[in-house]
Amino acid sequence: MPAMLLTGASGFLGGHLLEKTSPHWNLTALSHTRPLPGTLALDLRDREAVLALVRTRRPRVILHTAAKANLDACQRHPEEAAAVNTTTVAILLEAAAEVKARLILVSTDMVFDGARGLYNEEDEVHPLSVYGATKVEAEHLVLAAPGSHLVARAALIYGRPRHSGSSFSQWIENRLHNSQQVPLYTDQFRSPIWVENLADALLELAGMEYSGLLHLGGANRIDRYTFATQLCSAAGYDPALLQPVSMHTAVSDAPRPVDVSLDSSRAAALLRTPLLDTRDGLLRMTRAR
Ligand SMILES: NC(=O)c1ccc[n+]([C@@H]2O[C@H](COP(=O)([O-])OP(=O)(O)OC[C@H]3O[C@@H](n4cnc5c(N)ncnc54)[C@H](OP(=O)(O)O)[C@@H]3O)[C@@H](O)[C@H]2O)c1
Repeated sequence: MPAMLLTGASGFLGGHLLEKTSPHWNLTALSHTRPLPGTLALDLRDREAVLALVRTRRPRVILHTAAKANLDACQRHPEEAAAVNTTTVAILLEAAAEVKARLILVSTDMVFDGARGLYNEEDEVHPLSVYGATKVEAEHLVLAAPGSHLVARAALIYGRPRHSGSSFSQWIENRLHNSQQVPLYTDQFRSPIWVENLADALLELAGMEYSGLLHLGGANRIDRYTFATQLCSAAGYDPALLQPVSMHTAVSDAPRPVDVSLDSSRAAALLRTPLLDTRDGLLRMTRAR
């Protein structure tokens, strides 16, 4: 079995990858502050520790999902954001070069400014936030490094967390369970992807040699309010608690782009894993274990 190093296994996406990878890969899964059974706790900013681990485990693939992914926290703590989101990538690339491993970096739709939407891989990046900027720097490092590395730019990820971590769809479901009103933007657009769909696509890519840049979003562009109405019909919630609001009424530390929907047609043509639209993804989410 080939060896894989999975970072961020204690996170939302990483938790799903952890469950799906084990039968097919000789897996080393990493956590950090939230130790999880079956994972090793390691701070990826610790260069010596990362190099020592990679020399021992000799992974063929490093699937790097770990990040400081909260936009507002990154905006308030830019140095920490750069250390976690960019410096760790430089360290992992150094380690990967030693053992000829392939690095797959999970990046984000937040590399775009959202002025246009339906971005493809040829479009220029222009991040509005510190989070987006740290991911752009990380992408540059990966794309400039020798070897067959891949930047997989994920759209907004929805789904139910496996172990820990959170998602915006889980936030909606929690509020509905507690009979609380749910304010949702009608004027902010993404192409959300179901976490299990994204995990399947990433694992398929891990078994391929594809390198460069790839967008991984769901098949449709949608605002958050409409997404929530689809969630209500898939899961049987009463939509009366959904409150349509404008994103321009919200106050936050990090600026938010209006439309960072992704054109993922390159990935759709490449992968056996179909990239689901939100209706299909939400139905599957509600039927999943
Ligand atoms: N969620 C989304 O909608 C979305 C959209 C597009 C792209 N992405 C990208 O997808 C990836 C996964 O996102 P997510 O929502 O699953 O994130 P998450 O739930 O916040 O998980 C982040 C993971 O990173 C780990 N981590 C943070 N700092 C670390 C450090 N210094 N050393 C080692 N590990 C560290 C955390 O470990 P501990 O918890 O154990 O400390 C956790 O396992 C990220 O790269 C994110 O940028 C996410």
